[in-house]
Amino acid sequence: MKDRIWVSYKDSVYDITDFIKAHPGGTEKILLSSGGQLEGFFKFYPFHQKDHVQKLLSQYKIGILHEDDRVKQSANGNDIDEEEEMLKQLRSKELITLQEVPLIAETNPIYLRQHFITPVSEMFIRNHQKIPQRIDPEYFKLKVFENKNKKAKYTLDDLKSNFQPKTVMSTIACSGNRRGGLKNIYPTIQGNNWTYGAIANCYFTGVSIIDLLKDLGYDLEQIKDKHLVVEGLDIDVQGKHFQVSVPISHVIDPLNEVILAYAQNGEELIQDHGYPLRLIVPGFVGVRNCKWVYKLSISDEEATSAQQKENYKFIQERDSSKIDYSKYKPIFAYIINSAITYPLDKESMIVEKDSPCIYLKGWATGNPHLGTPVKEVQISFDNGQTWEQAQITHKEVKDHKHSKIFSWVLWEYKIDVNRFQSNQPIKASVRSVDLNGDTQLKSIEELYNLKGLLNNSPHSVEFQFVI
Ligand code: HEM
Repeated sequence: MKDRIWVSYKDSVYDITDFIKAHPGGTEKILLSSGGQLEGFFKFYPFHQKDHVQKLLSQYKIGILHEDDRVKQSANGNDIDEEEEMLKQLRSKELITLQEVPLIAETNPIYLRQHFITPVSEMFIRNHQKIPQRIDPEYFKLKVFENKNKKAKYTLDDLKSNFQPKTVMSTIACSGNRRGGLKNIYPTIQGNNWTYGAIANCYFTGVSIIDLLKDLGYDLEQIKDKHLVVEGLDIDVQGKHFQVSVPISHVIDPLNEVILAYAQNGEELIQDHGYPLRLIVPGFVGVRNCKWVYKLSISDEEATSAQQKENYKFIQERDSSKIDYSKYKPIFAYIINSAITYPLDKESMIVEKDSPCIYLKGWATGNPHLGTPVKEVQISFDNGQTWEQAQITHKEVKDHKHSKIFSWVLWEYKIDVNRFQSNQPIKASVRSVDLNGDTQLKSIEELYNLKGLLNNSPHSVEFQFVI
């Protein structure tokens, strides 16, 4: 970093030193390219070939390469991956794709209104690498390590037959959910332009991690200061497996219901959602719910990956050269939040003369870290000066005094159209209030952060109706 970092791409040379710390894919990854060519990396992560990345790169151009030094482009650079093609064919066409490889797709708003349990095929997808090849269940073994030492192996059969299955309902949300709103006012924020659909609510079934740790012979008290490091079968350009960790102190509290899932909504996991095993940490943001798990480690240290150490941190420092990532904690739990998913922003609704009412609809979460459920959902038509109560139409029935709630609620609000003029824009905002009275207090301006994470300013839509 002291001596500047140069890379080449096509016919040009770039000095990317000042961009390294702001790279959304992490400093570790971008540094792999230092002194070399970007072509191979951009082929592996093709979203770099999009206009906004190319425009960003162009700001750092410092010269052009001598003709003899340019990379010769192969005519058929794209290998067709048959398994990937097949998955694409099978995938729901209702998902809203934001990026093809690694695949990033939002849950369609139609599944964020009435479907309290999101159908598996309609759940958002946020991959960090290419989807790994489907493993053969006959030969698959989950490896367990203690730090760097092998401790045990389990077949899928062992996990399904030797442990009491445990089912938990969890709303999984990407910590970048609603980043689109932040990007509208802070265009420098990089990353996927999620609206409010990086969220879904499902049942997961699998082995309780507490049962697994006991089976491994651990005294839970003795390991409470360690970390559960989890690795997925998906790999990056360096051949490194996707890796994250969660503190064991969280995992060993039975109220947190952490499981290694092999089924979702009662069916075997599908490849898009982590077959054969997915770590489910109810209430924790998507990235900690590692997919395609093949290895667990009981470790003295947290995971060393960029996903743990850099990418999922809430950093409000605006001068990226001043950032010391080690000073910030990784994001674990999702937050109290909500969205209006009907009508869509700028939608025009036709109202029948005989039944002059329209409904707003949407989702709301409580405080998943504490497990406190949503008590009320409130709507405002005057930019948050006054709030009115919406009706909660779907919620999990669970004894919240003796257990935690990790699931969203769905709600609706009936608008009496006589209060408003037709053909005039109406702005509606929503906020969630949990059982402790906590709510969404911060405005979008206060929520700026480098990676555009955890936006929970009250969500608004502007719409009109026509009679
Ligand atoms: C993501 C820029 C080099 C790996 C991104 C994004 C940008 C970017 C703008 C966010 C894309 C979006 O809008 O969603 C650049 C530039 C580079 C560079 C300007 C060169 C100067 C690299 C290299 C690697 C890499 C060399 C790999 C070795 C990644 C990954 C992500 C990413 C994995 C996705 C992170 C995630 O979604 O978790 N990069 N990048 N990048 N980049 Fe780069």
